Amino acid sequence: MITSPWRNHFFGTDTYMKTILGYIPRVYMNNAATPQISKVVVKKVESILHHYTYHNEQNHLSEKIQETYDKVRNIIIDYIGGDRDLDSVVYTDTTTSALNLLSHIALQDDPDQVIITTRMDHMANYLPFRIKFKTLLVRLTPDGNIDMNHYEDLLIKYQGKVKLVAAIAASNITGIVTPYYKMAYLAHKYDAKILLDAVQLVQHKPFSMKAHSDLEHIDFISFDGHKCYTGQSGGVLIGPKEFLDKYHPMTYGAGITHFVNDEKYILKDSPLSHEAGYPDFMGIISFGEALNYLKSIGLKNISDYEDMLYGYMIKELKEIPGIIIYAPQQNTSNLPYASFNMDGISYKKLGSILGFQFGLTVTAGFSGADIYVQDLLGLSNAEAYELFKSGEGYGVVRASLAAFNSMEDIDRLISALKIISATIKKER
Ligand SMILES: Cc1ncc(COP(=O)(O)O)c(C=O)c1O
Repeated sequence: MITSPWRNHFFGTDTYMKTILGYIPRVYMNNAATPQISKVVVKKVESILHHYTYHNEQNHLSEKIQETYDKVRNIIIDYIGGDRDLDSVVYTDTTTSALNLLSHIALQDDPDQVIITTRMDHMANYLPFRIKFKTLLVRLTPDGNIDMNHYEDLLIKYQGKVKLVAAIAASNITGIVTPYYKMAYLAHKYDAKILLDAVQLVQHKPFSMKAHSDLEHIDFISFDGHKCYTGQSGGVLIGPKEFLDKYHPMTYGAGITHFVNDEKYILKDSPLSHEAGYPDFMGIISFGEALNYLKSIGLKNISDYEDMLYGYMIKELKEIPGIIIYAPQQNTSNLPYASFNMDGISYKKLGSILGFQFGLTVTAGFSGADIYVQDLLGLSNAEAYELFKSGEGYGVVRASLAAFNSMEDIDRLISALKIISATIKKER
């Protein structure tokens, strides 16, 4: 039985939770939503508390907090292999706000452009575009990944009109990693840029935006701190500085201008032009610390370890009578997430028994990937809408692992599911 070598680096791995059988050790398996908090992050925040001050004062401590905050831009850009000179690192509240910001910028760039996104994408990378543009959705293959033929067909059909492809790097439901470099290559081939929603990927797998001159270069990327173990907001939109400098901010307020009087205002360049209001010092400094931590233990080490967990989880899940696993991959290059249902029990009830009876923290629903989950369940638009209207709803149960999970956690899940499955069989 293998225990995570990093288990003690996190809070919440020895927490007890009240269940109908009394207090039992909780197994945290909701990492795709938000993982537990890294101890080094909290240590960093604690170290700042004594010096905490406003950033625009004329004193050493004020300069210090500003400097620490500013340095995180380099930590972030280096972490994802961006270009310190050519890219701008815009701090945002979350990934959602980063994606909304880029959709707002795209609207200024060309309000008539067509956006391509995919049926796998989270609503955060779909709705901000859908409400502003004609938006095309790339279909999925039967195994739940991106249909690259359909993608290229759309790029060809709408060449000249499609300026941006907004694509997910890895699914928050099945953990499937998309062929994002191939998508970038094709986007560039047909004169578009690519935005990668990498909020699920970068804490699990080594990643690089690649050089600007590379045809597989990722033009824009977004992710955030809480999915990287900070437990706080603080995210980024990264993209070509020259491009981001050109457009007006989505949010106006103090800090974004060089000069204002009642006749004119002069905007700063990016990233500052897009960062109105009080900076999120704690969130961003925590974000930087979390990335330093992940880098220090090594993304390749994390990925290898999580691949092992994923393989074990899928193998064990497959043994459970009545289980339906959505898009389990043959290879183990997925994120360690599994979404499933069980014959004879609703997703809601299954999730609730796992939580209230067995102390397992999972999600039951569609977790912001409404369209992807409808596709995985084989629901038509009308069927999904009927289920919504009736109050029954639709969804999957998702167990999503992270670096601190151990094989023992998976065993707890499997043994709970076996008990539930046996009970259902008896009731039938
Ligand atoms: C794939 C994906 N994109 C975007 C988001 C939105 O992230 P946030 O809620 O941190 O803004 C999520 C959140 O779960 C996600 O899974």
